[in-house]
Amino acid sequence: MAETILEVKNLKTKYVTRFHENVYAVDDVSLKVEEGKSLGIAGESGCGKSTLALSVMGYYFAPLHYISGDIIVDGTNLSGMNPDKVRKNILGNEIAYIPQSAMNALNPTQKIISFVEDVIHAHEPKKSKKDIYDLARERFEVLGLPEDVLQRHAVELSGGMKQRTVIAISTILSPKVLIADEPSSALDVTSQKLVIRMLREMMEKGFIKSMVFITHELPLLYNVTEDIMVMYAGQIVEHGSAKEMVFDPLHPYSKGLMGSIIVPEEGIREHRLTSIPGTPPNLKHPPEGCRFAERCAYVTPACRGFRPDMTTLPNGRQYRCVMSERKIREVYDHE
Ligand SMILES: Nc1ncnc2c1ncn2[C@@H]1O[C@H](COP(=O)(O)OP(=O)(O)OP(=O)(O)O)[C@@H](O)[C@H]1O
Ligand SMILES: [Mg+2]
Repeated sequence: MAETILEVKNLKTKYVTRFHENVYAVDDVSLKVEEGKSLGIAGESGCGKSTLALSVMGYYFAPLHYISGDIIVDGTNLSGMNPDKVRKNILGNEIAYIPQSAMNALNPTQKIISFVEDVIHAHEPKKSKKDIYDLARERFEVLGLPEDVLQRHAVELSGGMKQRTVIAISTILSPKVLIADEPSSALDVTSQKLVIRMLREMMEKGFIKSMVFITHELPLLYNVTEDIMVMYAGQIVEHGSAKEMVFDPLHPYSKGLMGSIIVPEEGIREHRLTSIPGTPPNLKHPPEGCRFAERCAYVTPACRGFRPDMTTLPNGRQYRCVMSERKIREVYDHE
C-alpha cells in the first residue's frame, strides 16, 4: 500500500481581525495525499484556499490561529508544534511552499544562486557555496533551466522563467510535500504549460514526493493532479478523482465551477467563463445550513436549516449536499 505523506484531519483555523472578530476560513477540512500522488484544490476567490495552505503548513502566525484538528506529515504531527519550530525545522525540507505571487516577491537585487543558498543554509548551515552551486546547477539542468539563470537577478527573467526558477529554488531540498498556491495563474498559456510540465517531472523524478496544487480554475486540474477537492466557504464540498470531478461533478458548486461544455471523448472542448450568481457568504458569520444554499440553483427549504455532512460513496468519492447521488443525477439529467 502506498505510504501516506500528508494527512489532515478535521482541521479548523481562523483569523482574528484587528477588531477581534473571528473569520472561520478553514472549517473541518480533512485530506490525504499518498506518496507519488497529487491533490488539486479548487474554488473561487475568498473560499479559503490560501488559508488552508498556510494552515496545513502549521504557519500559525497572527492573525491566523489554529483551533483544532491534526496535520500529519510523514508521521510527524504538526498541530501542537510551535510555529517557529515548524518554520525552522519543517518548512523548506519537509514541506515546500510556493505562495501566491511568489515570483513577484523575489528581491530583485539578489542573484538567483543566493536564494538557493538561503534555502539550503536554513537547514544545512555548513554546506559550502561550491557544493550548493553544484547541486543547484544539476537540479536546474534536469529541470530544463539553463545554468546561467543562477547568476542572474530576478528582474532579468521572464514571468514563466521566474516562476519555474522559484519552484526549483523552493524544492531544492527535495521535500516530502510541495504546496503550490496558484503557481500558474498569472502566466500566459505557454508558460502555464511549462510550469505544469515541470511540476509533473519533479514528481516523476522524486524531487518532491507529493503535491498539493491550488487554483481557482477547476478544469485546469484535469491535466495536473490525480485527485481534486473543491472548496467553498472554508469547507470541502466535493472530493474525487480528476476525471470524476471534471466530467461528472456532483455538487452544484463544482458543477458551477466547471461551467463548461464537455465532450468526454475530446476532453474539455470549450471552457466558458461563466460565473455563479451571487457571492460567497461572510465567513465571520457562516450560514446555519448549507453554505452554498443562497447561490444554489437546486436549493430546497431543507438546505437552509440543515448543514449537510460529507457523504462518502462506495468508491470513496465524497460530496456535501442534502441531495442523494440519485437525486442529483436525476435533477441534472432533466436539464
Ligand atoms: N489576514 C486576514 N485577516 C482576516 N481575514 C482574512 C485574512 N486573509 C484572508 N482572510 C479572509 O479569509 C477568507 C479566505 O481567504 P483566502 O485568502 O484563504 O481565500 P482564497 O481562496 O485563497 O482566495 P484567492 O483565490 O483570492 O486567493 C476570506 O474571507 C478572506 O477575506
Ligand atoms: Mg489565495
